[in-house]
Parts: sequence; structure tokens; C-alpha cells
Amino acid sequence: MFPFPKRNAFPNAIAQRCAGDVLTRLRHKYAPYYHTFAAQKGTRVTLDGRELVMLSSNDYLGLACHPKVIEAGRRALGTWGASTTGARLSNGSRACHSELEERLAAFLGKEACHVCSAGYLACMSAIQPFVEKGDLIFADKNCHSSLWAGIGLAPARAERFAHNNPDALAESLSFEKQGTPKMIVMEGVYSMEGHIAPLPEILRVCENQNCFFVLDDAHGLGVLGKQGRGTAAHFGVTDKVDVLCGSFSKALASTGGFVAGSRDVVEYLRTHSKQTIFSAALSPVQAACAMAALDVLQTEPEHLQRLWENTRRYRQLLDGLKLDTWGSETPAVPIVLGVKERVYSFWQKLIRHGVFTVMSIAPAVPPGKDLIRTAISAAHTDADFEIIATAFTAAARSW
Ligand SMILES: Cc1ncc(COP(=O)(O)O)c(C=O)c1O
Repeated sequence: MFPFPKRNAFPNAIAQRCAGDVLTRLRHKYAPYYHTFAAQKGTRVTLDGRELVMLSSNDYLGLACHPKVIEAGRRALGTWGASTTGARLSNGSRACHSELEERLAAFLGKEACHVCSAGYLACMSAIQPFVEKGDLIFADKNCHSSLWAGIGLAPARAERFAHNNPDALAESLSFEKQGTPKMIVMEGVYSMEGHIAPLPEILRVCENQNCFFVLDDAHGLGVLGKQGRGTAAHFGVTDKVDVLCGSFSKALASTGGFVAGSRDVVEYLRTHSKQTIFSAALSPVQAACAMAALDVLQTEPEHLQRLWENTRRYRQLLDGLKLDTWGSETPAVPIVLGVKERVYSFWQKLIRHGVFTVMSIAPAVPPGKDLIRTAISAAHTDADFEIIATAFTAAARSW
């Protein structure tokens, strides 16, 4: 817990801690976090005057710079202005929100959908409103922070089960009364590991257990399934998922998030989710960009095809260098290096050779799994691959 100092000592303690942090950051030429890029063009970013290949973005389909997406955002800005300056419940709802909700619900194979201003809030909303005292929550231990934030607000006991392990879930369920309402929480594609959830096996375990299934498909949407309809569609189990939530800040190249389900579930959420009731609506510009990206997904299949071609090519490179990719099955590919010193040194070498990546160290990942989180995009070109190959070869040779 945060060591809460006496009131009169408080400003001093905070000031000291902050100053220490700044000093630590200044000590490194390449501080590990909070980089500010001076420019961005496609997969290239400019950092300290140097152009680097971005290899840790979640722009899986490369749509963030797609002309149709940019034009849709521009038009929405002209039509709706910069912000709704209000919550959906009060003065913040616009036709662009309803249109996006209808189109996304149809795309996902759900009756209804609700969009909010961040994926993080959407994922919290997918849990907190639906849980009552006496219920039980079972969550994969590697779930995203937004899901744990929703679980933390819910008035029910929560248990973690071993990552992607239906047997572990079955064992946990076996200790509980069959009739007790239970919520199961998982991700479709795990953002850090790149693993796909074994949904059919998990759902089989949940049969006859009075379970309500919540799936965060932030990294599956646009990546898996026909036209990128997501992990549940990939396995043909959409009707078994009660709440499907996710983010627009990955393959849909925008910001904001969504919760989809039956009409009743979505209506209930709209009147019970604090994250929606007390927070301003998704900006119309971001709604329009997400909607344009959704159209592109359905009309230009080449992006999804190229994403998987690039993913296979990238994985071949990493396998050839005998790097540990934690069994990633998707375009989200971790390079597991085990300890933070190795991660930092590897990361620096990649930067030196022209590739920008993101480090992830414990407690963001399990102990011993400190890693560099990379993600391939449909937009990576042959020229990008040459730079990536040279950088990884150099970094892997010398650590
Ligand atoms: C699995 C998962 N869920 C939810 C979120 C939150 O989405 P956003 O960043 O759009 O708020 C993220 C983002 O990192 C994520 O990876």
C-alpha cells in the first residue's frame, strides 16, 4: 500500500519521490517510457531526430492512416464539432454513436452494442454493473488491467484461474455450489502473450454452471475470424458469450471502446454503468474513424490477409534467431527475455538499429517473463522488414 505520510510531511515526500523519478529517467540516454515522437508516417516514427520503424503499435491493420478513415474523421469534425461535452445519458448522444452501435452489433453478431470513450471504461462496464453480492467471479489470471478494475468494483468474491487453462477453471468451479451465479472473465487474444483463448473448451467447462461469460476481444477484433469479426466468431461461439467488450484503439484505428450483447444486457448496462453514466461520450470524430475502419474491414480484405502474411514472416525471423515468443499465435508477439536488465539492453539495441518497441516487466507480466512486446501490422513493408531483421539479428547476437 501507498505509505501515507503525516499531512504536513505529505508535499515534501511526494516532491522527493517525483524528483527521484525524474533523475532516474534523466540518467539514461534512452529513458524506457513516455517517449514523444516528433512525427509519424505510416509505420515510421521520429524520435530524437531519427526515423524508426514502429514495431509495438496496435494498429494491426494499418488503418490509422487509411485515407477513408482520415476523411471520415475530418467530416465528423465539421459536422459535430470537437466534442459532445456530455455523457451519453444526458446531452452526449449523437446519431453517429447510434449508427456505430448498430453497425458494430451486426458485425459482431450481437443484438445491441454500447460505445464509450475508452476501451478501459468499456471493459470495466462489462463487469461491474452485472455483479451482485453473493455472485462469484472467475478470471484468467493474465487478464488486462481494465478487467481487474471492473472486478475490483464488483461486490463479489473473485478467483483467478491459471492462464488459458480449462482444467484449472473446472477445478475452481468444482468447489462452488452449482446454482450460485458465476461470471467468467477472459480475453479473446491476450495482448501481452499473443495467445488465443481456448473458448470451446472453456465454454464446455462452464456448461450447466449458471455462468455469465464476459469476453474482452480488444486484440481479436479485426484480427481473427471472417473479416476480422473476432475470437468468438473464429470459434463459432458468439451466441455463448453474454458480454463482448473491447477497444477501438487496436485494429479499428481510433480510440474508445464497446460492450455488445443482448438488447436487455445493453439496456441494463446503460442505466447501471457508472463508467458510462458519469463520463463524457466518445468523441464523434473517434466514432466516425472507428465506423470507417469497420467499413474498410468489410470491403478491403487485403489488409487482414497482409497482416497474417506479415505475422508469418515475422515469426519465421524470430524462430530463426531462436528467440522465445511465449508461443504467440497472433500478430501480438512478445520476446521473452526473463529479467529486466536483459530486456533493457535488448530494447536499446533495437532502438540503435532503427526499431522502436515497448518493454514490459514484472509486475505487468509474471515474474521471470520480462519481455519486449512487439506487434506486427499489415502496414509493415519489405523495407521495414529489412530493418527489423537487421536489428533483431544484431540484438539477439549480443545479449
Ligand atoms: C485487452 C485489453 N483490454 C482493454 C484495453 C483498454 O483499451 P483502451 O486502451 O482503448 O482504453 C486494452 C488496451 O491496452 C487491452 O489490451
